[in-house]
Amino acid sequence: PIIYAITPTYARPVQKAELTRLSHVVKLVPNIHWIIIEDAIETSKLVKSLLERADLKSRSTLLSAKTPDDFKLKAKDPNWSKARGVEQRNAGLEVIRKRINKASSRHTIVYFMDDDNTYSLELFQEMAKIERGKVGVWPVGLVGGLMVEKPILGGNEIIGFNSAWRPERPFPIDMAGFAISGDLIMDYPDASFSYEAPRGYQESEILRYVTVVRDLQPLANNCRSVLVWHTRTEAPKLDSETKLKKDGQKRSDDGMEV
Ligand code: UGA
Ligand code: MN
Repeated sequence: PIIYAITPTYARPVQKAELTRLSHVVKLVPNIHWIIIEDAIETSKLVKSLLERADLKSRSTLLSAKTPDDFKLKAKDPNWSKARGVEQRNAGLEVIRKRINKASSRHTIVYFMDDDNTYSLELFQEMAKIERGKVGVWPVGLVGGLMVEKPILGGNEIIGFNSAWRPERPFPIDMAGFAISGDLIMDYPDASFSYEAPRGYQESEILRYVTVVRDLQPLANNCRSVLVWHTRTEAPKLDSETKLKKDGQKRSDDGMEV
Protein backbone atom coordinates (compact mmCIF):
# COMPACT_ATOMS: atom_id res chain seq x y z
CA PRO A 1 0.00 0.00 0.00
CA ILE A 2 0.88 3.69 -0.21
CA ILE A 3 1.19 5.30 3.22
CA TYR A 4 0.19 8.96 3.44
CA ALA A 5 1.82 10.51 6.49
CA ILE A 6 0.33 13.87 7.52
CA THR A 7 2.64 16.11 9.56
CA PRO A 8 1.57 19.47 11.00
CA THR A 9 4.55 21.63 11.88
CA TYR A 10 5.21 25.15 13.12
CA ALA A 11 8.18 27.49 13.33
CA ARG A 12 10.11 27.35 16.60
CA PRO A 13 13.78 26.95 17.58
CA VAL A 14 13.68 23.12 17.48
CA GLN A 15 11.71 22.78 14.24
CA LYS A 16 14.61 21.98 11.93
CA ALA A 17 16.01 19.39 14.33
CA GLU A 18 12.62 17.68 14.62
CA LEU A 19 12.04 17.64 10.87
CA THR A 20 15.56 16.39 10.19
CA ARG A 21 14.89 13.40 12.46
CA LEU A 22 11.55 12.72 10.77
CA SER A 23 12.94 13.08 7.27
CA HIS A 24 15.44 10.32 7.94
CA VAL A 25 12.68 7.92 8.95
CA VAL A 26 10.59 8.90 5.94
CA LYS A 27 13.56 8.27 3.63
CA LEU A 28 13.84 4.71 4.89
CA VAL A 29 10.17 3.83 4.46
CA PRO A 30 9.20 2.47 1.05
CA ASN A 31 5.96 3.71 -0.51
CA ILE A 32 5.38 6.63 1.78
CA HIS A 33 4.13 10.01 0.68
CA TRP A 34 4.87 12.70 3.26
CA ILE A 35 2.40 15.58 3.49
CA ILE A 36 3.82 18.43 5.56
CA ILE A 37 1.53 21.29 6.50
CA GLU A 38 3.08 24.36 8.01
CA ASP A 39 1.04 26.33 10.53
CA ALA A 40 1.74 29.59 8.72
CA ILE A 41 0.41 31.86 5.98
CA GLU A 42 2.93 30.48 3.52
CA THR A 43 5.44 27.69 3.28
CA SER A 44 8.95 28.45 4.50
CA LYS A 45 12.36 28.28 2.92
CA LEU A 46 13.55 26.21 5.89
CA VAL A 47 11.13 23.35 5.28
CA LYS A 48 11.34 23.56 1.49
CA SER A 49 15.12 23.29 1.42
CA LEU A 50 15.11 20.56 4.08
CA LEU A 51 12.95 18.44 1.76
CA GLU A 52 15.20 19.24 -1.19
CA ARG A 53 18.39 18.34 0.64
CA ALA A 54 16.84 15.10 1.89
CA ASP A 55 15.95 14.33 -1.73
CA LEU A 56 12.32 13.92 -0.68
CA LYS A 57 10.74 16.44 -3.06
CA SER A 58 9.11 13.83 -5.27
CA ARG A 59 7.85 11.84 -2.27
CA SER A 60 6.32 14.78 -0.43
CA THR A 61 3.74 17.55 -0.62
CA LEU A 62 4.39 20.79 1.22
CA LEU A 63 1.63 23.26 1.97
CA SER A 64 0.58 25.73 4.61
CA ALA A 65 -2.61 26.13 6.63
CA LYS A 66 -2.54 28.64 9.41
CA THR A 67 -4.49 28.03 12.60
CA PRO A 68 -6.99 30.92 12.83
CA ASP A 69 -6.07 33.39 15.60
CA ASP A 70 -9.30 32.61 17.49
CA PHE A 71 -8.20 29.00 17.83
CA LYS A 72 -4.58 29.55 18.69
CA LEU A 73 -3.79 28.95 22.35
CA LYS A 74 -3.31 32.29 24.08
CA ALA A 75 -1.51 32.93 27.33
CA LYS A 76 -4.70 33.21 29.40
CA ASP A 77 -6.59 30.34 27.81
CA PRO A 78 -7.13 27.14 29.75
CA ASN A 79 -4.96 24.43 28.25
CA TRP A 80 -7.83 22.13 27.30
CA SER A 81 -9.73 24.69 25.27
CA LYS A 82 -7.66 24.52 22.12
CA ALA A 83 -6.27 21.68 20.10
CA ARG A 84 -3.14 21.66 17.97
CA GLY A 85 -2.88 20.53 14.39
CA VAL A 86 -6.60 20.70 13.52
CA GLU A 87 -6.32 23.09 10.57
CA GLN A 88 -3.20 21.36 9.23
CA ARG A 89 -4.46 17.78 9.45
CA ASN A 90 -7.75 18.75 7.78
CA ALA A 91 -5.78 20.38 4.97
CA GLY A 92 -3.78 17.16 4.68
CA LEU A 93 -6.97 15.10 4.45
CA GLU A 94 -8.15 17.38 1.65
CA VAL A 95 -4.96 16.69 -0.31
CA ILE A 96 -5.40 12.96 0.17
CA ARG A 97 -9.05 13.02 -0.89
CA LYS A 98 -7.95 14.71 -4.10
CA ARG A 99 -5.04 12.34 -4.66
CA ILE A 100 -6.80 9.04 -4.00
CA ASN A 101 -8.21 7.98 -7.28
CA LYS A 102 -11.40 6.06 -6.60
CA ALA A 103 -11.06 4.24 -9.89
CA SER A 104 -7.60 2.95 -9.02
CA SER A 105 -7.53 -0.12 -6.86
CA ARG A 106 -4.37 0.87 -4.99
CA HIS A 107 -4.69 0.39 -1.24
CA THR A 108 -3.71 3.44 0.84
CA ILE A 109 -3.18 4.13 4.52
CA VAL A 110 -3.41 7.47 6.28
CA TYR A 111 -1.28 8.21 9.35
CA PHE A 112 -1.07 11.38 11.45
CA MET A 113 2.63 11.77 12.12
CA ASP A 114 3.35 14.66 14.51
CA ASP A 115 6.71 16.33 14.06
CA ASP A 116 8.05 15.67 17.57
CA ASN A 117 7.38 11.97 18.20
CA THR A 118 9.84 9.11 17.70
CA TYR A 119 8.89 6.60 15.02
CA SER A 120 10.54 3.24 14.36
CA LEU A 121 10.80 1.75 10.90
CA GLU A 122 8.98 -1.37 12.13
CA LEU A 123 5.93 0.79 12.83
CA PHE A 124 5.52 1.41 9.11
CA GLN A 125 5.85 -2.29 8.32
CA GLU A 126 3.03 -2.93 10.77
CA MET A 127 0.92 -0.12 9.34
CA ALA A 128 1.21 -1.66 5.89
CA LYS A 129 -0.78 -4.63 7.24
CA ILE A 130 -3.91 -2.54 7.76
CA GLU A 131 -6.72 -4.09 5.76
CA ARG A 132 -9.10 -2.21 3.52
CA GLY A 133 -11.94 -0.68 5.51
CA LYS A 134 -9.99 -0.97 8.74
CA VAL A 135 -8.28 1.22 11.31
CA GLY A 136 -5.08 -0.29 12.71
CA VAL A 137 -4.07 0.36 16.33
CA TRP A 138 -0.96 -0.27 18.44
CA PRO A 139 0.63 0.84 21.72
CA VAL A 140 2.24 4.27 22.15
CA GLY A 141 5.10 4.72 24.59
CA LEU A 142 5.50 7.59 27.06
CA VAL A 143 2.07 9.16 26.89
CA GLY A 144 -0.90 10.06 29.08
CA GLY A 145 1.11 9.76 32.29
CA LEU A 146 2.00 6.13 31.56
CA MET A 147 5.03 4.27 30.22
CA VAL A 148 2.70 2.91 27.54
CA GLU A 149 -0.90 3.36 26.49
CA LYS A 150 -2.24 0.30 24.74
CA PRO A 151 -5.38 -1.37 23.48
CA ILE A 152 -6.53 -4.37 25.54
CA LEU A 153 -7.36 -7.54 23.65
CA GLY A 154 -9.90 -10.23 24.36
CA GLY A 155 -9.00 -12.99 21.98
CA ASN A 156 -8.30 -11.24 18.68
CA GLU A 157 -10.62 -8.34 19.37
CA ILE A 158 -10.01 -5.06 21.09
CA ILE A 159 -12.21 -4.83 24.17
CA GLY A 160 -10.77 -1.76 25.85
CA PHE A 161 -7.80 0.46 26.56
CA ASN A 162 -5.51 0.96 29.53
CA SER A 163 -5.46 4.78 29.40
CA ALA A 164 -5.37 6.63 32.72
CA TRP A 165 -6.07 10.08 31.27
CA ARG A 166 -9.73 10.64 30.37
CA PRO A 167 -10.44 6.94 29.92
CA GLU A 168 -14.07 7.86 29.21
CA ARG A 169 -13.09 9.09 25.73
CA PRO A 170 -14.73 6.98 22.97
CA PHE A 171 -11.24 6.16 21.66
CA PRO A 172 -8.75 6.86 24.48
CA ILE A 173 -5.66 6.65 22.28
CA ASP A 174 -3.01 9.08 21.06
CA MET A 175 -2.79 10.36 17.50
CA ALA A 176 0.37 8.26 17.02
CA GLY A 177 -1.47 5.05 17.93
CA PHE A 178 -3.62 4.46 14.85
CA ALA A 179 -3.76 4.69 11.06
CA ILE A 180 -6.78 4.60 8.78
CA SER A 181 -7.36 2.73 5.54
CA GLY A 182 -7.71 5.30 2.74
CA ASP A 183 -11.01 3.91 1.54
CA LEU A 184 -12.60 4.95 4.85
CA ILE A 185 -11.32 8.48 4.27
CA MET A 186 -13.08 8.40 0.89
CA ASP A 187 -16.25 6.67 2.14
CA TYR A 188 -16.70 9.18 4.96
CA PRO A 189 -15.94 12.57 3.40
CA ASP A 190 -17.00 14.38 6.60
CA ALA A 191 -14.39 12.58 8.69
CA SER A 192 -12.11 15.30 10.02
CA PHE A 193 -10.81 17.10 13.08
CA SER A 194 -12.80 19.82 14.83
CA TYR A 195 -12.24 22.87 17.00
CA GLU A 196 -15.47 21.96 18.78
CA ALA A 197 -13.96 18.84 20.30
CA PRO A 198 -12.57 19.22 23.83
CA ARG A 199 -8.81 18.89 24.28
CA GLY A 200 -7.79 15.28 24.04
CA TYR A 201 -10.79 14.37 21.91
CA GLN A 202 -9.31 14.92 18.41
CA GLU A 203 -8.48 11.24 18.00
CA SER A 204 -12.03 10.28 19.01
CA GLU A 205 -13.38 13.00 16.75
CA ILE A 206 -12.02 11.54 13.51
CA LEU A 207 -12.33 7.90 14.54
CA ARG A 208 -16.03 8.15 15.43
CA TYR A 209 -16.80 8.76 11.75
CA VAL A 210 -14.94 5.77 10.39
CA THR A 211 -14.99 2.89 12.86
CA VAL A 212 -16.12 1.37 16.16
CA VAL A 213 -13.86 -0.08 18.84
CA ARG A 214 -14.61 -3.72 18.08
CA ASP A 215 -13.62 -3.23 14.40
CA LEU A 216 -10.13 -1.89 15.20
CA GLN A 217 -7.31 -4.03 13.82
CA PRO A 218 -4.68 -4.83 16.47
CA LEU A 219 -1.09 -4.62 15.18
CA ALA A 220 2.45 -4.64 16.60
CA ASN A 221 2.48 -8.16 17.95
CA ASN A 222 -1.15 -8.04 19.11
CA CYS A 223 -0.45 -4.69 20.76
CA ARG A 224 2.43 -6.07 22.83
CA SER A 225 5.24 -4.13 21.08
CA VAL A 226 6.02 -0.43 21.38
CA LEU A 227 7.07 0.96 17.99
CA VAL A 228 6.34 4.66 18.52
CA TRP A 229 6.96 7.05 21.40
CA HIS A 230 5.15 10.27 22.24
CA THR A 231 8.35 12.19 22.87
CA ARG A 232 8.29 15.94 23.45
CA THR A 233 11.31 18.09 22.93
CA GLU A 234 12.20 20.52 25.68
CA ALA A 235 12.06 24.16 24.61
CA PRO A 236 15.68 25.35 24.64
CA LYS A 237 16.63 28.15 27.01
CA LEU A 238 17.85 31.06 24.92
CA ASP A 239 18.53 33.60 27.66
CA SER A 240 22.03 34.36 26.39
CA GLU A 241 20.45 35.27 23.07
CA THR A 242 18.26 37.80 24.88
CA LYS A 243 21.37 39.18 26.51
CA LEU A 244 23.15 39.58 23.16
CA LYS A 245 20.19 41.59 21.92
CA LYS A 246 20.16 43.77 25.03
CA ASP A 247 23.86 44.46 24.55
CA GLY A 248 23.17 45.53 20.98
CA GLN A 249 25.04 42.53 19.52
CA LYS A 250 24.09 40.25 16.67
CA ARG A 251 22.20 37.03 17.27
CA SER A 252 24.39 33.93 17.42
CA ASP A 253 22.61 32.62 14.32
CA ASP A 254 22.92 35.81 12.32
CA GLY A 255 22.96 34.75 8.67
CA MET A 256 22.58 31.07 9.58
CA GLU A 257 19.73 28.60 9.59
CA VAL A 258 19.59 26.51 12.76
C1 UGA B 1 -1.00 15.57 21.84
C2 UGA B 1 -1.22 14.60 20.69
O1 UGA B 1 -0.11 13.72 20.55
C3 UGA B 1 -1.41 15.42 19.39
O2 UGA B 1 -1.49 14.56 18.29
C4 UGA B 1 -2.66 16.27 19.56
O3 UGA B 1 -2.85 17.09 18.41
C5 UGA B 1 -2.49 17.18 20.76
O4 UGA B 1 -2.12 16.45 21.94
C6 UGA B 1 -3.81 17.89 20.99
O5 UGA B 1 -4.65 17.33 21.68
O6 UGA B 1 -4.02 18.94 20.40
P1 UGA B 1 1.16 17.27 22.02
O7 UGA B 1 2.52 16.72 22.14
O8 UGA B 1 0.55 17.95 23.21
O9 UGA B 1 0.23 16.15 21.50
O10 UGA B 1 1.03 18.30 20.77
P2 UGA B 1 2.17 18.89 19.83
O11 UGA B 1 3.15 17.83 19.47
O12 UGA B 1 2.68 20.14 20.46
O13 UGA B 1 1.32 19.27 18.53
C7 UGA B 1 0.80 18.29 17.65
C8 UGA B 1 1.19 18.64 16.21
O14 UGA B 1 0.66 19.92 15.87
C9 UGA B 1 2.69 18.71 16.00
O15 UGA B 1 3.03 18.09 14.77
C10 UGA B 1 2.99 20.20 15.97
O16 UGA B 1 4.08 20.55 15.15
C11 UGA B 1 1.69 20.77 15.43
N1 UGA B 1 1.41 22.16 15.92
C12 UGA B 1 1.49 22.47 17.24
C13 UGA B 1 1.08 23.15 15.01
O17 UGA B 1 1.02 22.91 13.80
N2 UGA B 1 0.85 24.43 15.47
C14 UGA B 1 0.93 24.77 16.79
O18 UGA B 1 0.71 25.95 17.15
C15 UGA B 1 1.26 23.75 17.69
MN1 MN C 1 3.82 16.18 20.52
